[in-house]
Amino acid sequence: MPFVLGVVSRKGGVGKSTFARAIAIQALIEGKKAAIIDADPQATSFKWSRRRKEKAPAVVQLADRTLADLVAELKGRGAEFIVIDTPPHDQPIINITAEASDAALIVTQPYPDDLQEVGVPAAILHALGKPAGIILNNTPPRAHALTMARAALTAFPMATCPTAITHLMSHPYASAEGQTAQEREPKGKAATELAEIWTWFNSSIIVS
Ligand SMILES: Nc1ncnc2c1ncn2[C@@H]1O[C@H](COP(=O)(O)OP(=O)(O)OP(=O)(O)O)[C@@H](O)[C@H]1O
Ligand SMILES: [Mg+2]
Repeated sequence: MPFVLGVVSRKGGVGKSTFARAIAIQALIEGKKAAIIDADPQATSFKWSRRRKEKAPAVVQLADRTLADLVAELKGRGAEFIVIDTPPHDQPIINITAEASDAALIVTQPYPDDLQEVGVPAAILHALGKPAGIILNNTPPRAHALTMARAALTAFPMATCPTAITHLMSHPYASAEGQTAQEREPKGKAATELAEIWTWFNSSIIVS
């Protein structure tokens, strides 16, 4: 079966879709056939795929299908690594995504309004015994806020990735062209960060 990664957060606008696409592209860069299930009715990742020139990754909308049905369909199309992009606020979808996933990553910004929303998905994933971790996104470089965020996140029963995703305009600029930051600037800072996150995910989260 393909590996299924859920990307979740209760807070809106923290970078779930940006990260879901970036980790799918990282999987492609690492030689895996990647696909994305867009479970958000807002269809951010699906619309991104319509702006995209390349065929891969396949991006399909959940709409009125089930996750199991779509995972089976994508498996039939050869997918090895499937990322589920989820909507904010919607706890039932966070629950079904957690259940359907082999592992999940919670995306958060490093500020109190964002950090206080990590608890619910963290509890769901912990209760299900799913391998899970936390990704800090949209972070300022070397700010006290980042140190404080890392300290606050130790309260949750899962690791926070040592590499945070810095606030960089390459992410929205890439999105405008249906790309990700690593594709737009393969030697850029975002590309380095995402490669480090991929390594951490494979060595610390999947194996644990
Ligand atoms: N690291 C980053 N640096 C700069 N901009 C970013 C970064 N991550 C995300 N953004 C921008 O922030 C905005 C929100 O990101 P995104 O749509 O990925 O969040 P989301 O959590 O999926 O939102 P929603 O809850 O609505 O689904 C987008 O315009 C995106 O380009
Ligand atoms: Mg989104």
